[in-house]
Amino acid sequence: MIYLDSAATTFQKPPSVYRAVREAMASMTSPGRGTYGPAARASRTLLACREEAAALFQVKDPEQVVLTFNATHGLNIAIRSLVKPGARVLLSGYEHNAVTRPLAAIGGVQTEVVRAPLFCPSLFLEELRRRMNHEVDVVICTHVSNVFGYVLPVDEIAALCRRRQVPLIVDASQSAGVLPVTFADWGAAFVAMPGHKGLYGPQGTGLLLCGREPEPLLAGGTGSLSRQPEMPDFLPDRLEAGTHNIPGVAGLLAGLRFLRRRGSAALLRHEQGLVRQTVEGLRKLPGVQVYAAGEKDCQSGVVSFRLTGRDPGWVAEALGQRGVAVRAGLHCAPLAHATGGTEATGTVRVSFSAFSTAQEADRFLRLLGRLG
Ligand code: ALA
Repeated sequence: MIYLDSAATTFQKPPSVYRAVREAMASMTSPGRGTYGPAARASRTLLACREEAAALFQVKDPEQVVLTFNATHGLNIAIRSLVKPGARVLLSGYEHNAVTRPLAAIGGVQTEVVRAPLFCPSLFLEELRRRMNHEVDVVICTHVSNVFGYVLPVDEIAALCRRRQVPLIVDASQSAGVLPVTFADWGAAFVAMPGHKGLYGPQGTGLLLCGREPEPLLAGGTGSLSRQPEMPDFLPDRLEAGTHNIPGVAGLLAGLRFLRRRGSAALLRHEQGLVRQTVEGLRKLPGVQVYAAGEKDCQSGVVSFRLTGRDPGWVAEALGQRGVAVRAGLHCAPLAHATGGTEATGTVRVSFSAFSTAQEADRFLRLLGRLG
């Protein structure tokens, strides 16, 4: 199979990740619950994972790195911590349901969408500045659109939030591992990310970087302050109730170490090269509408397209029958499609990883060209 759905989850992982998961299952128990060998190994692995992530994402204290089940879990904690009924929240027009649904679930939140055309970071900033006033309680922004691979100008957004002292939540689901996630420079309140995409960990892992006091979503055992009825008020225990997914954490640690060896900048260049090749190939095919940044340097390893007269679901299924895995439809981000003008049908999305090759991109283009 040619796997071009890494924006959903990276399927091929470094061999060290598979090994780490297997070894953890065979040799580790629950962290923070004992000093015997398998428990101590689990505690060390968990700490090493926080330390590795803290170094990669510029987090001062590894205890600010909280293990979650996925990015959605982290975003729910972040949003519940900062957004209360009646709050005024500014969102980018490229947010995923992992942001919009938790906001809707709170109820009574005044959300305002900062709409600006695709691949136009300067217009986005202009619109954000125009809407940013003393009534804004929170800004929430994805770093990269999961639909279009559009890289939003998060450094500038963060600077504006710092100047106005408005807490910022960043969804780094599509950027962590390839783009700089500079938590300290941003001064963000929270940054949420999955472990199973660009960090090459297993599914069921995620990280939440905490710059503010969070509200726990879950309450339960932490192995600390056990006589106290309430959750501990310190991180990471405040947010990590119950037994950890230690095989997942061990795999995530191996994924983070793989990134350190390979370097995120090199991986980004690799993926962007494949996107350029794909965009050029798509533009040569008749009836293809492709969403690309062109000369502007604001697209990651993701590209969306549509084929005139064909439903994206049909295209994805036909490609699937020919051995190519892509995702079609709304990609759980109807807001992004509404902003990009593709809400009626959605798009077909191709997304790359460190393990994708130019030959795979070529083969996908040849097969697509033959679909008619
Ligand atoms: N948000 C993930 C995607 O875009 C699951 O496919």
